Amino acid sequence: MGGTSQTVNRLLAKLHQARFYRDDASARRTYTPKLTLYISNRCNLKCVHCYASGGEPLPSELTTEELLDLIDQYSYIAKAGEVTISGGEPTLHQDLDRILRAVIERGHRSVLFTNGTTNGGGMGWISLGRIVNVVQLSIDAFDQPTNDQIRGRGTFMKILKTYETLYQTPTQIRLSVCAMPQNIDSLRTGLLPFLNQYDPQKKIGLILSPTVVAGRNDAGIYAFDYPELQKAIGDSLDEIWQSGWRFPNTFQRNDHQPRCGIGSSILIMPDGGYRACTFAPISGNVRKQSLADWYSATQKQLELFNVDNIEMCKDCDLRHVCLGGCVVKMGHRVRCTSSGPCTPANRSFYYEKLVRESMVLFREN
Ligand SMILES: C[S@@+](CC[C@H](N)C(=O)[O-])C[C@H]1O[C@@H](n2cnc3c(N)ncnc32)[C@H](O)[C@@H]1O
Repeated sequence: MGGTSQTVNRLLAKLHQARFYRDDASARRTYTPKLTLYISNRCNLKCVHCYASGGEPLPSELTTEELLDLIDQYSYIAKAGEVTISGGEPTLHQDLDRILRAVIERGHRSVLFTNGTTNGGGMGWISLGRIVNVVQLSIDAFDQPTNDQIRGRGTFMKILKTYETLYQTPTQIRLSVCAMPQNIDSLRTGLLPFLNQYDPQKKIGLILSPTVVAGRNDAGIYAFDYPELQKAIGDSLDEIWQSGWRFPNTFQRNDHQPRCGIGSSILIMPDGGYRACTFAPISGNVRKQSLADWYSATQKQLELFNVDNIEMCKDCDLRHVCLGGCVVKMGHRVRCTSSGPCTPANRSFYYEKLVRESMVLFREN
């Protein structure tokens, strides 16, 4: 009994700490937008699930000068922002060092997405690890056969080597793992042993995402529904927390965003197309519209999706947990949405998620 009331007390404390009640001004806070530059579509891998269909460069990719100009334009609307360099495989770009240095000189946090299977380009992994704040390294399983089936033959060993090199540098390593039915067993059984073996300092980050239906995964062969994912791997994540890793949970947290992630980043495709999130349609081009103009027009449109404005959501106590679902309504990511009915099953999924995460957060070590 004592245990139960303690748990309830902690849950209430967590709800209070998260300011989970209606009149919360943080829901109206303004957020500094982040910038993601897909600097080329060129990639040395053909990952089976790649939403970007990385491979060949696009016909009219942005030049280095255009990319540098975009970093300048971004710096007018964001002081001390965050710039992610992605692709394709960005370490294949001949001017990666110039682009990264421009980001750093303008005072932004730098994030590099990479498959970790190259030699780190002109700079090499050690120099990258010294200057980039976060290196997000993709790995899609914790055993060689499963990873290599998804990311390509020989990739597991190369990723591991890059990981070990970067681990010696000051950068924050963040592993990016796409969960799908094909790798769930490997994640369930392999993630904790991997961390025990390769992260003795308990310092890396982890992003575990449901694999989205787009690009080379357009037929949805590698897709996993979010509740299914929670069910399949939730216990392993709890175990990881109990073992002392404290990377922010891979599932969304109640951080009082006004809507799903759409609009929190400005994404620029290799040929200059603007997107409001990875999966939103292209809605302009940098060669026709300045970054500031596109951003302010897009923010106005997205107000429609603010959970405090949506009729169906505005009185719901779960709105800042579920965030109204995916605005783009891409494949399996659709849950409670602004256009569809919000089902009791959806609500209980989010209540359970909140309780589960609170329990994990407040568990005594
Ligand atoms: C498109 S890649 C580009 C950067 C780099 N080549 C790499 O492999 O990390 C960026 C991230 O998107 C992830 N990704 C690719 N396809 C995805 C999908 N269908 N759903 C979710 N994430 C995906 C990758 O695993 C990777 O972590």
